[in-house]
Amino acid sequence: AGLVIAMDGPSGSGKSSASRGVARALGLRYLDTGAQYRAMTWWMLRQGVDLADQAAVAARSGEPEIVSGTDPDAPSIQVDGVDVGEPIRQDEVTSAVSAVAAVPQVRARLVALQQEIVGTGDIVVEGRDIGSVVAPDAPVKIYLTASAEARAQRRSAELTGTTARAQQAAMARRDTLDSTRKTDPLSLADGAIELDTTALNLEEVIAEVLRLVKE
Ligand code: CDP
Repeated sequence: AGLVIAMDGPSGSGKSSASRGVARALGLRYLDTGAQYRAMTWWMLRQGVDLADQAAVAARSGEPEIVSGTDPDAPSIQVDGVDVGEPIRQDEVTSAVSAVAAVPQVRARLVALQQEIVGTGDIVVEGRDIGSVVAPDAPVKIYLTASAEARAQRRSAELTGTTARAQQAAMARRDTLDSTRKTDPLSLADGAIELDTTALNLEEVIAEVLRLVKE
């Protein structure tokens, strides 16, 4: 199988831009696993599933058909044939995704889907459990970090109508939700290299990852 690069880290660490840039530079495919958890969440909300009811979420988690496009220049995601690239970024989904991602049946289904896509290799995969669960044998594993301030600033620059301060509070809330749940996947995987991006711009992060890939 071809090269697999695992890119894990918390929100605002610059994962998405860096992962796409690395995929583009090396002519690899790109998979955003967070978008799949968001797509599952979007579908549950539309179906009116009570997200506080883990058994209900688990029972329906096999229903939506989720398809990810893997072109780093035009990443896409569809649920039952509908393009959900925009709606999955809305606040309603963002504030609900941690609860859905905490359900073991959701994780099992999406990890299986991800492993199917990663199977043939030649891909950069971003998420929170890629180096540990989805692709533990990946030859290159990067764990991106950044200070809380830098992460909030990047995230608010991506969104409109939010200040860095409000964003930092919202992200801290989601970080806590993600990291205190029993099924939190975010951790420094075996063999992963930690890369602190606080003082680096996007080009510098990409260059550093490419250097690590060549090693
Ligand atoms: O917006 P942000 O970059 O933080 O997150 P994302 O990559 O879009 O992922 C959204 C949410 O999905 C995260 O907050 C996690 O709860 C969940 N997730 C996960 O549990 N495992 C992954 N491999 C990717 C995302």
